[in-house]
Amino acid sequence: MTFETKRLILRPWEESDAEECYRYARDPRVGPMCGWPPHTGADQTRQVIRDILAVPETYAIVWKETGLPIGSISLHFHSDLAEKDDEAELGYWLGVPWWGRGIVPEAAREVLRHAFADLKLERVWCGYFDGNEKSKRVQEKLGFRHQWVTDNVPVPQMGQTRKGHANLLTRAQWRETVTSYRRIMPEEIDPLWELQKAYKAEIGEDEPGGQERERLTRAIEAGQIRFYGAWDGGQLVGCCSVTVGFSTFDYAPGGVFEDFYIRPEYRHQGVARSLVRFAYRESGVSSLTVGCADCDMEMYRSLGFSIPLGNLLAFE
Ligand SMILES: CC(C)(COP(=O)(O)OP(=O)(O)OC[C@H]1O[C@@H](n2cnc3c(N)ncnc32)[C@H](O)[C@@H]1OP(=O)(O)O)[C@@H](O)C(=O)NCCC(=O)NCCS
Repeated sequence: MTFETKRLILRPWEESDAEECYRYARDPRVGPMCGWPPHTGADQTRQVIRDILAVPETYAIVWKETGLPIGSISLHFHSDLAEKDDEAELGYWLGVPWWGRGIVPEAAREVLRHAFADLKLERVWCGYFDGNEKSKRVQEKLGFRHQWVTDNVPVPQMGQTRKGHANLLTRAQWRETVTSYRRIMPEEIDPLWELQKAYKAEIGEDEPGGQERERLTRAIEAGQIRFYGAWDGGQLVGCCSVTVGFSTFDYAPGGVFEDFYIRPEYRHQGVARSLVRFAYRESGVSSLTVGCADCDMEMYRSLGFSIPLGNLLAFE
């Protein structure tokens, strides 16, 4: 499998990478930080590629501009930290001349996307040995959270024991780091309309047509209804609307909450909760009400709609 990021290609290691890999793996500032001694010759590196690196879910970090490998990144399964089937441990190293340019975070963001979105893992672990401030910083930037310190971690290849730090990133925490929330503008009606259609289909209603789309666009343009979205990169993955009026409930702007839809693959990861909070804050309303079917009561309650307002009736 091969991945591409802005500056990098991540692809499987090949024996023909031995010379380039050795150029970096011989440096005493690289391997020992990960627990292995510096390589002593390109032949040894070739052997390491054959025996250790050329396995699934280990990728050469290749600098796109030159096409040459400059480091390595991998997901390990059933490792010291990742014991369960739905977990992996992230590991990485980079050639010294390439340090300090955000290259490992860039590669790791793609590998984490792969781990959570493609492989559907629940947790990714990552460790570093005490004193490795650069690696600690990489893990902070990726959103990992510190779990515990172990005093005597065996480092067999170096004939040592060391103090090790264990960090963890859960699927929900990862989702939070890659999802952003903002108002959906009138010119973004296309992706919003796709969500509207998916929503109506899921609740068993007819697909809305061109006229409905036109009316919705005009209402958004006129500011009658505001839509808020959850975005994964450039993709709209969830929405809700707030229609703002004035309420003598507390003599302040009040909002009605509707059109709540999160794409199925983004559910149960905290996106809905964050979107409701965001919409409440951004719309500036002092009260936000939702009318819902009995079967949705528990969900809305758990999202913070906790004040019962008696019975809500609509006039026809
Ligand atoms: C740890 C390592 C992978 C970092 O990769 P990287 O692509 O350089 O990561 P970044 O560019 O994000 O740098 C991470 C932090 O290191 C520090 N750093 C990096 N280069 C630096 C430099 N030249 N001078 C000072 N600080 C530097 C900074 O604190 C930086 O964080 P910041 O961006 O918030 O300032 C790399 O240093 C490495 O390969 N080290 C040896 C192997 C290793 O330790 N692997 C991890 C084992 S757990």
